[in-house]
Amino acid sequence: MLPNFELLDAATIYSVVGNDVSSRINHLEILESVNSTNTYLLTKPILQSGAICIAEHQTEGRGRRGRTWLSPASGNLYLSLAWDFLMDIGNLNGLALAVGVAVTEALNSYGISRIRLKWPNDIFFTHRKLAGILIEIAKSSKKSCHAVVGIGLNIFLPEEIANINQPWIDIYTIEKKAPDRNLIAGLILREVIIAFTLFQEQGLAAFHGRWRELDLLLGQKFCVQTPQGEIEGIGAGIDETGNLQLQRGTTLHRFNSGEVSVRFQPIASP
Ligand code: BTN
Repeated sequence: MLPNFELLDAATIYSVVGNDVSSRINHLEILESVNSTNTYLLTKPILQSGAICIAEHQTEGRGRRGRTWLSPASGNLYLSLAWDFLMDIGNLNGLALAVGVAVTEALNSYGISRIRLKWPNDIFFTHRKLAGILIEIAKSSKKSCHAVVGIGLNIFLPEEIANINQPWIDIYTIEKKAPDRNLIAGLILREVIIAFTLFQEQGLAAFHGRWRELDLLLGQKFCVQTPQGEIEGIGAGIDETGNLQLQRGTTLHRFNSGEVSVRFQPIASP
């Protein structure tokens, strides 16, 4: 358990989110334990835009591509927001990138810098994974999409229970003092909700420049695994719809996040 462990508290979180942004929250629920905050919102009989669920513990935390998201009650953050976007589902491609930028801005304002984003939805600190984003679509039509955006952030993950097959880090290790989880949760909610509005109005264009500054893969050699096999090349950023670009010789390959996974094993800096 996190030293000086403080339970998540709705009133404190609202005060950090601020009145201007809180007015866009429909309902904020804090649960002691749940299967998955994403599943919880997705299976509600009436799913309202602006509903938020945060849990201290998840029994069936889910990651991308059918993976498990380790979710002990040790002081991490498991948070999901339900949101309606008035756009075709095809335009929602870049939403994970926008949310990654928003979470980075929140962590920066909390005092943690050197955050990088690994396409499409991983948040890294010094080449170790700090957080992940899982976006699921509950309903969609030509004109609107009802999305559930889940964010898992490692705040305090004891080494002995972290059976994770990739380099990872938590905020406690970065800061070496007890993190203020309510402050972190409030800052993330504030930035993500502001980003939702901007994404609705301007799409990915509003986040493109910032993404480029944070892009972990830009200019790096890495491998993309496709159903047809592996392609190795040099990261060439994202295109205007959020596809990953990989330069191989004179050919620029483009990949959609639904189709591929990226293998990148950098040398961690000391
Ligand atoms: C990934 O990196 O694969 C995405 C991880 C997303 C985890 C979060 S925790 C809150 C929400 N509920 C879940 O079951 N998953 C997301």
